[in-house]
Amino acid sequence: MKDIESLEQLKVKYIGKKGLFTNLLKSLSNLDQKDKASAGKTLNILKKEIDECFNEKKKFLSDIELNKKLEHEKIDISLPTRPEKKGGIHPISKTMDDIICIMGSHGFKVEEGPHIENEFYNFTALNIPEEHPARQEHDTFYINKYKNLLRTHTSPVQIRVMKNIKPPIKIIAPGSTYRCDDDATHSPMFHQVEGLVVDKNITMANLKWIIKELLTTFFNIEDLPMRFRPSYFPFTEPSAEVDIRCSMENGKLEIGKGKDWLEVMGCGMVNPKVFKNCGVNEEVYSGFAFGLGVERFAMLKYGISDLRMFYENDIRWLQHYNFIPNGFPSLLRGL
Ligand code: PHE
Repeated sequence: MKDIESLEQLKVKYIGKKGLFTNLLKSLSNLDQKDKASAGKTLNILKKEIDECFNEKKKFLSDIELNKKLEHEKIDISLPTRPEKKGGIHPISKTMDDIICIMGSHGFKVEEGPHIENEFYNFTALNIPEEHPARQEHDTFYINKYKNLLRTHTSPVQIRVMKNIKPPIKIIAPGSTYRCDDDATHSPMFHQVEGLVVDKNITMANLKWIIKELLTTFFNIEDLPMRFRPSYFPFTEPSAEVDIRCSMENGKLEIGKGKDWLEVMGCGMVNPKVFKNCGVNEEVYSGFAFGLGVERFAMLKYGISDLRMFYENDIRWLQHYNFIPNGFPSLLRGL
């Protein structure tokens, strides 16, 4: 059997509506009562076996077809770009690189985690139990019945790191995150940077200092006014959201002045319950964590008003930002 089409033809020939085997089944009615029962039983067993054979063969053939297709559609991403098409670094990558550069200068190491997570790392270990409303708020993309999912935030990386590395811990985790949400201000795929510090004697003052460093360097405004507003996250206690000053007069957004506040990130002290879930001694260690949205940071810095522009990959739009390929951010040269 070469392909699915000829398999289907064979199926019609034997077990289709007017198929040979189907006719055999129909002819049962001509037999007398006592033969009918035993012949019927045998034929039904046979029918089941034939069905199974067809299904097995179909799966086999469709796997071959899929593999052929994958082989055929392969593209070589290591090929150099065409010189006439002047590519540039995407604003999202540039923003992530800048944040990594700033945090790197303070000794934060980059860690990564899988995009396909399970409920334990994405929720349970972060003190978000099954019936917790935060689970619903996250609009999770579930992948299969084993409760695998696309991570809804970068916070599961905190858990993986704490389970694997002994404190002191000082990491950031940049990467894509996913939520089942799609409109002018939400995209089903977006990016976050998570930060985590665990050591002896870590306090909220340490958290506040590093966030101030990050924000003033990123926006390049030395006296950027900011406030820590009490908030709630299941994995931090106490929790806060960070706002920065901005002005929105006449529809024009300006960071650092004015009388409005703009929320830029979530943060807090690591909840002792999360330490327990990861085997970190909460009597000895304390820590802080923060999480920020990369798209939001990029929109604020570069004055991008529509989130969807990031994903359209319009070459004219990308060229407008024209971040040098192969260039890397440096605090000495300026971001
Ligand atoms: N994970 C949170 C979110 O996606 C952000 C966060 C991270 C808040 C770490 C506090 C500490 O909304």
